[in-house]
Amino acid sequence: MISADPGKPQTVRPLYHIFTRIPGRYDLINHVITLGMDNGWRRQAALACLQDRPARILDICCGTGDLAITIAKLAQYTPEITGVDYSQPMLEIATAKTAASGGNIRFIKADVARLPFSDHYFDCIGISFAFRHLTYNNPLTPIYLNEILRVLKPGGRFVIVESSQPTSPFIRFLDHLYLRLWVFHSGYLISGNKGAYRYLAESARNFYSAVEMQGFLLKAGFKQATAKRLFFGAAAVYTAIK
Ligand SMILES: C[S@@+](CC[C@H](N)C(=O)[O-])C[C@H]1O[C@@H](n2cnc3c(N)ncnc32)[C@H](O)[C@@H]1O
Repeated sequence: MISADPGKPQTVRPLYHIFTRIPGRYDLINHVITLGMDNGWRRQAALACLQDRPARILDICCGTGDLAITIAKLAQYTPEITGVDYSQPMLEIATAKTAASGGNIRFIKADVARLPFSDHYFDCIGISFAFRHLTYNNPLTPIYLNEILRVLKPGGRFVIVESSQPTSPFIRFLDHLYLRLWVFHSGYLISGNKGAYRYLAESARNFYSAVEMQGFLLKAGFKQATAKRLFFGAAAVYTAIK
């Protein structure tokens, strides 16, 4: 694993503490709170990333590496794949998992606010279940978006898989109940970190709908933004073109 000096951390401290304290059981909790659907949703994002056979792919906020690893497994060729995250414990798990799966992915410790890559370096950038953390009540959102746009080449794709809002009011009600009861309680019980799972459930309940997210991406400077709803709209895969 390469460690890029992130310099003076330009980051939101409470969030940083959440993601350096929950990694031990992070994968297990993800499967439990999404009722086992997270891998299938990441697979959809990986397929969207690979659509134009990009040569260089970046997984930002890669966590334990699942999106990068899925992309490597699904690619019928050998793209250059890089994962970045600012949580050292997450990256250690990602590195061990990649070694076990025989994949060829480099992991770099870095903050999205300061990506250690030259302008227009990547053909595709993917992010799974972390865009919400970069943009939900986060004062650093403009800095993150600028960095993503800077390292993505013109015409390149930005693929996001994230929780969303079901369009049907009844299903949305059930989804919010599930977030409040199941996600918060099971996440807290398994991780022991009450604050982390309160934040995760609350931010998911209040995050953008698919239509709002498309508007947000266009306003951020992308030329096109499409959405593919998953599981009645509880999650979605977005593809934005620079
Ligand atoms: C909910 S996890 C998602 C991890 C992974 N992408 C997945 O699909 O499971 C969010 C990740 O984003 C990382 N993260 C949050 N803000 C970040 C930032 N500003 N720079 C780098 N990593 C960040 C956290 O350390 C954490 O690993």
